[in-house]
This record gives sequence, C-alpha cells and structure tokens, in this order.
Amino acid sequence: MASLPSDKTVSFHTERAKRGGSEAPTALGAGYPAARLRRNRRTDWSRRLIREARLTPDDLIWPIFLIDGERARAEVDAMPGVARLSIDLAVKAAEDAAEIGLPAIALFPNTDPSLRDEAGSQAFNPGNLVCRAVRAIKQAVPEIGIVCDVALDPYTSHGHDGLMDDEGRIDNDRSVEALVNQALVQAEAGCDILAPSDMMDGRIGAIRAALEANGFADTQIMSYAAKYASAFYGPFRDAVGSGAQLRGDKKTYQMDPANGGEALREVALDVAEGADMVMVKPGLPYLDIVWRVKEAFGLPTFAYQTSGEYAALVAAADRGWLDRERVILETLLSFKRAGADGIFSYFAPEVARLLKR
Ligand code: PBG
Repeated sequence: MASLPSDKTVSFHTERAKRGGSEAPTALGAGYPAARLRRNRRTDWSRRLIREARLTPDDLIWPIFLIDGERARAEVDAMPGVARLSIDLAVKAAEDAAEIGLPAIALFPNTDPSLRDEAGSQAFNPGNLVCRAVRAIKQAVPEIGIVCDVALDPYTSHGHDGLMDDEGRIDNDRSVEALVNQALVQAEAGCDILAPSDMMDGRIGAIRAALEANGFADTQIMSYAAKYASAFYGPFRDAVGSGAQLRGDKKTYQMDPANGGEALREVALDVAEGADMVMVKPGLPYLDIVWRVKEAFGLPTFAYQTSGEYAALVAAADRGWLDRERVILETLLSFKRAGADGIFSYFAPEVARLLKR
C-alpha cells in the first residue's frame, strides 16, 4: 500500500543532511549539459513512469462528525461541505466510504451540551453517541475500519482533553485513568483503532495494558504522538462543540509548534508503550515532522489534514483563487512524498471519487 519514496530519495536526503546540505550529492550526476533533467519531464507517459509518490483511496481515512437524532444533518459553518450526521446517516456514509474504497473512517461525536460535565462522564457511557455509532456501523459495514478518538474534549464542560484540578491545571495521571476507561468502552463497542489524541504522558502504556487485561489484545492503537497546540483546529472545535467553552488553551499538553526533536521523543515513548501506528498533527505545516518520524522509526505513520487546513483550501477555492481539485490532490500527494502511510482528510470521499475517474 502506502510507501516511503524510493530508497534512492531516502539516501539522497540522508546523505545531504550528513554533509550539512551544502555540496550537490554525486547521485545527481556530472551536471549540465550531460544531465538535462527536463528530458524525463517532457512527456506525460515519462512523467508517469518516473513518479515516486502515489495517492490512492487506500491512503485516506475519512473523519465523520456525529450528532443525535434521525435523518439529521447539521452543516459545520467553518467547514463548507462538511456536516455532522445522525447515526443512520453516518451508517450510509460508511457504506458509501466502503464502496469507493476508503479503508477506514474516524468518528467524532458532538455531544449534547446537557451531557457535558467537569468529569467528562459521558465518555464512559457504553451507550454514548460514538459507541452507538460504532455498533451500528460495524453491523452494517463490517469491512470498514473504525477509528475512535480517545480524549475527553467532546464530553467535558471545560473543553479540555483531560481532567481539570481545582487550580485549573490539567491533571495528567487522573486524566490517564479516565482515558483508559474511555478506551475500554470504545473497544467494547467494536472500535478497531483507538486513537488517543489527548497528549497526556503515559496514556499509551496504560491503555495498552488495560486492553491486554480485558481481552482486547487485537485492538490497534494509533497514537496522536506528535500533536501540536495549533491554530488549525478551530473549525473542528466548532464541529464537535468544544471550542466556545474551552477554558484557556491546550499548551500544557499539546506540543509547541517550534519543536521538532521533541516530536521524536514523543514518538519513541509511544512506540515503547505499545502504539501500533503514530500520527503527526496538523499536516501540511508539519511535513518535516512526518519525514523525521518516518525516517527514525519506520512504523506506520499518519498525518492529519486538519479542519483548519480544509477550511483554508475550501475558502480560497470557493473564491476562485485556487483550483480546488488540483490543490487537494497536490497537498495529499505531498503527505505521501513526505513519508506518510496515510492521511486523515475531510476531502477523502471527494478524492476517492476523483482518483477513480
Ligand atoms: C480532540 C481532537 C482535536 C482534533 C482531533 N481530535 C482538536 C483539539 O485537540 O483541540 C483536531 C482535528 C481537526 O482540526 O481537524 N482531542
């Protein structure tokens, strides 16, 4: 399926990095005029022949927002074309996704505000919106993979991914206990891949141990290992209804956008604790991190084209400033070139259809 760019490219980059990036690598040859790089680009067939990265529907995970109700669709203001769906419509969406060849979907509930509290207790209710959706989709479309976020933000009245103490700090170890309970409830419902997006320390190990102890040894964990405190999550918080009431920011647990090496430490810990796959988030502004993580660990590496990236591209395309199809395909291909094995994208169904044409 997804693959790193050819070995040649990898060693080229590594070699250049070792030398400090100044001299031209010998792999490129003697130079002009013997080397004319435009020769290979001259025709469409030749460009296709030498293409390194490829994008297929197999590379895409489609995030779907959920709401209560029946035949209910609620558009997300800051994400034109994206709507929150009631479970019956989410089942239809999942059928559609399987039909067009998407391997997996990711579910995000917009919890009724009356059910949100300081403890995020709805997260541990086996009958909550996301668990009901998982069961319904598993029954109707058993062949599609289901990814569930592990984080408390759709359930807490303060909008944080963890639990808050009396001083307004996010309490790591109490949060991990809560996240373990949430993970178990979702695994029980039939979720295939648990995706902890909370950035608490130690949660991957704790969740892995609990899965082992409770008969869920086969449940995969995709850790949001390098998740940054980003301005690109705004529209998502609107979609799940966690933005307006967010108290403060998430900088004490999500990473500082200035840091790259720290991402490697985060990934190393999550791999040691039992993550099967890792994610970098946001996407496009963090392709250097995707590349470094894939190079350093070689394990399945995902990137998230976030709600803010979606909104920015759609807004420009709607004004006629960008060519919608071309920027979507180019950005997604860039993730592949950077070494991502797969990409979470709100464009997933549109792209799967485009690629089929
Ligand atoms: C929740 C979560 C967020 C996203 C995925 N899971 C938002 C956040 O951390 O505040 C962002 C997805 C997107 O912007 O598309 N922990």
